[in-house]
Amino acid sequence: MTVTIVGAQLGDEGKGGLVDVYSEDADAVVRYQGGDNAGHTVIHDGEEYKLSLVPSGVVRGKTGVLGNGCVVNPSTLFEEIETLRDRGLDPDVRVARRAHVIMPYHRVIDGIEEDAKSDGNLAAGTTGRGIGPTYEDKAGRRGIRIGDLLDPAVLRDRLEYVVPTKRALVEDVFGIDIENATFGAGEIDPVEAFDVDALYEEYREYGDRLGEDAMTVNAGEFLSRTLDDGGTLMLEGAQGSSLDIDHGVYPYVTSSNPTAGYAATGTGLGPAVIGQGEIVGIVKAYLSRVGTGPLPTELGFVEGQTEPDGGSDDEELATYIRDEGGEYGTVTGRPRRVGWLDMPMLRHAARASGFTGLAINHIDVLAGLDEVKVGHSYTLGGEEIETMPATTERWGECEPNYRTFDGWPDVDWSDVAATGYEAIPENARTYLEYVSDELDTPLYAVGVGPGRTDTVVLERPF
Ligand code: IMP
Repeated sequence: MTVTIVGAQLGDEGKGGLVDVYSEDADAVVRYQGGDNAGHTVIHDGEEYKLSLVPSGVVRGKTGVLGNGCVVNPSTLFEEIETLRDRGLDPDVRVARRAHVIMPYHRVIDGIEEDAKSDGNLAAGTTGRGIGPTYEDKAGRRGIRIGDLLDPAVLRDRLEYVVPTKRALVEDVFGIDIENATFGAGEIDPVEAFDVDALYEEYREYGDRLGEDAMTVNAGEFLSRTLDDGGTLMLEGAQGSSLDIDHGVYPYVTSSNPTAGYAATGTGLGPAVIGQGEIVGIVKAYLSRVGTGPLPTELGFVEGQTEPDGGSDDEELATYIRDEGGEYGTVTGRPRRVGWLDMPMLRHAARASGFTGLAINHIDVLAGLDEVKVGHSYTLGGEEIETMPATTERWGECEPNYRTFDGWPDVDWSDVAATGYEAIPENARTYLEYVSDELDTPLYAVGVGPGRTDTVVLERPF
């Protein structure tokens, strides 16, 4: 059986916590898209782990698999594995041979394109990890895959074709003098990033390490074998539905599909296998956003990210939620934009992925407010609509129609977690049940704090 976890909003919904709770009953935890742009914080045995690539389930001793739909920066991969080892863990990580490799030039081009786009208000505010340029090369059939790192002749052939095209793009299109440039805050050697020999040596070594540790797998086959043997898989989506390249707020999106359909494509398991399992949508009780683009229910204003005519003057409320919720990027440390829950966004996400259950996180963060609002619907062109329009420009014109809920008190949330659902303050339960009813999807879990034990579990899907 599979359980697929999908972020229902704009990433950072607290997926790691729930993956941690549910993965207790899973044999392997699998990522099906994205790369080291994902920030997961997992608290286990009182220790905090921050991971951006390795599936968070490895912290609990589960096998972690990076599926073929992922893009992998080998340097991050080995760094995270080493850090976990230094902290006394023995992570078992497997990487799909079909997954694509993030190369230094991808990171360079990510930064250059973001700069170039910022004049025209098109920058997505990326994490700068080279995600978009790597998926571009995958679609352009000029990418380098994990399997190629283990085959030196293929690696060299690929590099000899692709590197000159990247150099030409940077020099001739963007007019940058590579030899004298600074890339990635000085972390990336500008010369080596565009030098076939240097890249060949570095990436062949990564291939040797992957080979020595027997880390690469034919992911689909590996995972179906686990299922055939009666095993269970947790498929962990990164980012969120509104960052999906097809269903999200294009172009302010990531370059992959966090929605559940890609759990099949990005692992090599069939859609029916995923569909026979559970698909749990993870919702944060309010909105947060790292990056640019419209956000109709936004509170306050974050310089460089909020649209010039967006946000609101509820600065105090925004700061309160940001600080209580620790809304600062796990990967970048940037302050996140925050806003009220957006129901049209959730209806869209629930349909696109077919949620069979919901986990709503962070209700403790909103505790102590007199009232809590929800963007129930939008008004667009004089009409009330209940789901997101298909273009981001129209979404930016949407005026939210709010529903107001009475606030709930701050209580001892560990006590609540230990006691169960009935211990959640009544007004918070009214809020949770409203969301569940609107999405016609049962509530599986409620997050009341950052730790694994701070979750009220109503349903265990495995
Ligand atoms: P990229 O994935 O680095 O290309 O960034 C594209 C957009 O997705 C930007 O708006 C990022 O801020 C956003 N993004 C990427 N990964 C995450 C994440 O894990 N959480 C929240 N936002 C993300």
